Order: sequence, then structure tokens, then C-alpha cells
Amino acid sequence: MNPQVLAGARLLLTGGAGALGTVIARTFAAAGADVAILDLDAQGAATLASELGDTGRLAVAVGVDLTDHDAVRAAVAEAEAALGGIDILINAAGGGIVAPFAEMTDEQWRTQMARNLDSVFHVTRAVLPGMIDRRHGRILNIASIAAVSGGRLVRNAVAYATAKAGVVGLTKALAIEVAEQGITVNAIAPGAQATPGRDRDTPERREALLAQIPTRLLGEPQHLADTLLFLASPSAVNITGVILPLDGGHSI
Ligand SMILES: NC(=O)c1ccc[n+]([C@@H]2O[C@H](COP(=O)([O-])OP(=O)(O)OC[C@H]3O[C@@H](n4cnc5c(N)ncnc54)[C@H](O)[C@@H]3O)[C@@H](O)[C@H]2O)c1
Repeated sequence: MNPQVLAGARLLLTGGAGALGTVIARTFAAAGADVAILDLDAQGAATLASELGDTGRLAVAVGVDLTDHDAVRAAVAEAEAALGGIDILINAAGGGIVAPFAEMTDEQWRTQMARNLDSVFHVTRAVLPGMIDRRHGRILNIASIAAVSGGRLVRNAVAYATAKAGVVGLTKALAIEVAEQGITVNAIAPGAQATPGRDRDTPERREALLAQIPTRLLGEPQHLADTLLFLASPSAVNITGVILPLDGGHSI
């Protein structure tokens, strides 16, 4: 692939301050994209935007709670004004395994839905009109293999798996709705990734995890970012509505 495959493209990335988001932001900026980072962690987002700015890209950070509809509208407007429009949206914010199902509180359930599903709805709805006007756009959602496999790799994942399954449904249905308007909508469904959080695994836990993965490999964040880069590139113009597992064959 041309190393500057996204030269001139404008990316809005949610969850950019997180473990995967940081790698995604650096990868897209290195491919030539300008980047707006939306994250609850305003300081982390600002630090990353400053780093990307030092590489010559236009990069802005907006601290925002993506579960708040009005705040999202304002944050997306700010990002659009700064970049001059949005060509690519990556919904990466989310996460959180909470409690055994029988013990889950209403608030825990609602929080998981809001963080992992409502956030995707709010941001995508705010970004879409600009893409429709330009008849061009790429929307990439980060679901989880939990949405497909029920979360066998982790325990207490019912709310998370349910919310991510919602992201899968949203991805497919929206792909059909906007296909004729030059907009593709795809999702990746990562299995366990080699992010810093995994460093807390005991050797026994790590062995048990790898035993469930046919390739015996954790996902590499850089491979995930490269996959998203391909899906955002011109080569992927006719790929839409796909839920791509990045899980070493776990979901086969
Ligand atoms: N790490 C994995 O193994 C793995 C596997 C499958 C799927 N995923 C998914 O990938 C995405 C990124 O995961 P990660 O490992 O980088 O997680 P992370 O916790 O490191 O990063 C998530 C980011 O989302 C932000 N965020 C959370 N709630 C928010 C809100 N309400 N408003 C704004 N920002 C909010 C956080 O501040 C954080 O920066 C998540 O959607 C996660 O569910 C991760």
C-alpha cells in the first residue's frame, strides 16, 4: 500500500487516548491523515494530538463524554470546523467488563449500553450528514469477538457482549442504508489484544487464554490499526457491512 494512502484525509477517532486508539491515531497520521481525537480523557487526547502535530499533521483533541448526546453534537461540530470536514470515522471508545449477570445493577447495565453502543449512535449520527453531503465516507466500528462468541475469553461480559452485538447490528443495517451514498460501514471484532492491561495476567491466566486461540497469539494493536487503514483506503471502496474477526481463529 502507498505509505501516504490517506494523504489529505480527515479522521475523527473516538477513544483515541486509549491503548488501541493511540496506535490507530499514530498509524493514520503516518499515512497522511489529519486527526480529531474525541475522548473522555481530555488530557490524554491533548497529549496525543500534540505528538501528532509535531509530525506535521493537523491534529486536535476534544474532551467529551460520548454518552451525552448534546455534548457529542458540539464536539463533532468542533472537530469538523477544525479539520474542514470528516472523511473517516472510527468509533473506538468503549470497554468495560462489569459483573456477573445475576448481580448486575440497572445502572451497570445502562452504563455499558451507553458507553459501548449509544456512543456509536451519537457520534455516527452527528458525522453522517457531512458524509452524505459529500457522497463519500468511511465508518469503522470496533466491536468485539464477545459480540460473536458470547465472550468466552472473558467472564462477566454479558452487558458488554450485548452492547457490542448492537454495534454489529448497527454496522450492517447502516451499511445498507448509506451504500448508494458513497459511504461504507464496517466493523472489526477483535479478540484479546496485547494491550498494557494484559500485563496483569498471571502465567496461568495467559496460558489458559492462549489455549483457546487456534493461532496461540494475542492480537497486536499495530495489526489492528493496519487492518483499519486498509478498510479506510481506496482499495476497500466495495467492502461494506463486514464484521471482520481479528481473533486468531477463536470464533471459527
Ligand atoms: N483491548 C482489547 O483486547 C479489546 C478487544 C476487543 C475489543 N476492544 C474494544 O476496542 C476499543 C478500544 O479498547 P482499548 O483496549 O483501547 O480500551 P481503553 O480502555 O484503553 O481505551 C478506551 C478509550 O475510550 C474512552 N472512553 C470510554 N468511555 C468513554 C466515554 N463515555 N466518552 C468518551 N470516551 C470514552 C476512554 O477514555 C479510553 O481512552 C473498545 O471499544 C474495546 O471495547 C478491545
